[in-house]
Amino acid sequence: MALNYTFTMIKPAAFKNNLSGSILKEINEHGFKIRAMKLTKLTKKQAKQFYHIHKGKPFYDDLIQFMSSGPVLVAILEKKNAVKEYRKLIGSTDPTQADEGTLRKMFAESKSHNAVHGSDSDENAKLEADFFFSRFERY
Ligand code: CMP
Repeated sequence: MALNYTFTMIKPAAFKNNLSGSILKEINEHGFKIRAMKLTKLTKKQAKQFYHIHKGKPFYDDLIQFMSSGPVLVAILEKKNAVKEYRKLIGSTDPTQADEGTLRKMFAESKSHNAVHGSDSDENAKLEADFFFSRFERY
């Protein structure tokens, strides 16, 4: 059975440009409940751990640099079939390819500065949520 939660991160540029409120409004209006949330800043080491599956790809170094460049807002979101539903809401990695009404279409600057991260599988949702939150930080 699919997990009922997913993990999201509002990336440094979107946070810096004060888009968090608008993004969270969309998230809530699409029926996701916030179960955990915090503002944090990734060290380079943490960014490398979080994005280890992309190691060796041409965009990896820029990704690590960008993701550790400023604060990020991280959260656990609950909804039935959360991973699949949230991937639908965020849209394609590249905002020029993203559907109207998706978070990346509305808020992303580019493929690398694409406003939000969302887990791509139940397995990664668990790993990513556990990366940032203890069980005492979830409600
Ligand atoms: P995210 O969902 O956080 O997962 C990995 C990130 O790498 C992705 O969003 C993009 O920001 C970035 N990314 C993936 N593919 C590319 C690419 N071809 N060029 C630049 N950045 C990319």
